[in-house]
Amino acid sequence: MTSGSVDKLFDGNVAWRARIDETDPDFFPRLAQQQAPHYFWIGCSDSRVPANMVAGLDPGEVFVHRNVANVVHSSDLSLLSALEYAVEVLKVSHVIVCGHYGCGGVEAATRDDHSHGLANHWLEPIRRLVKDNHDALGRLAEAEERRDRLAELNVLQGVRRVAQTPIIRRTWALGGQVQIHGLMYGLKDGRLRDLGCTISGEQGAS
Ligand code: CO
Repeated sequence: MTSGSVDKLFDGNVAWRARIDETDPDFFPRLAQQQAPHYFWIGCSDSRVPANMVAGLDPGEVFVHRNVANVVHSSDLSLLSALEYAVEVLKVSHVIVCGHYGCGGVEAATRDDHSHGLANHWLEPIRRLVKDNHDALGRLAEAEERRDRLAELNVLQGVRRVAQTPIIRRTWALGGQVQIHGLMYGLKDGRLRDLGCTISGEQGAS
């Protein structure tokens, strides 16, 4: 039994183009010329956290990389390629690592469930965070609180890892002004929060 229909996508596309043509006729020709986003977004694949929508940005304004639980693996070629392109070609000023409360990937990393082999491997850095922060997390009474704190710790680690990449270090060494930020999005209230862990240069990255 198949749920949803691909036709729905084409119908939606026709309606969306019609809306844009009406409100901003220059939109597609303008975007086809170039993209000049100021932001590179590393977020969760969760369908409820679309970067453009939650940050109120139009197409062309944010370059996006998403994966399960917004993990920054230092050897993830897909993420690193996108980061390199964002920083060196698009010359974005801000790299955003955005996690979210109620993240299913973070929750999965807290369980002893070996049924999804690849996902387990992917989530290993979060499992490590659980171990390394065992006492601090244990002081939180509710399981939901612990998972949400873990999601924040995952973002803090992601920000540090991005800052430690040769791509970002090279940019700073050459005088580039890129900043790395850690944000959290709340599924329940739609609010974006700043974790206050922005790194703006080599000193903050060590
Ligand atoms: Co998620």
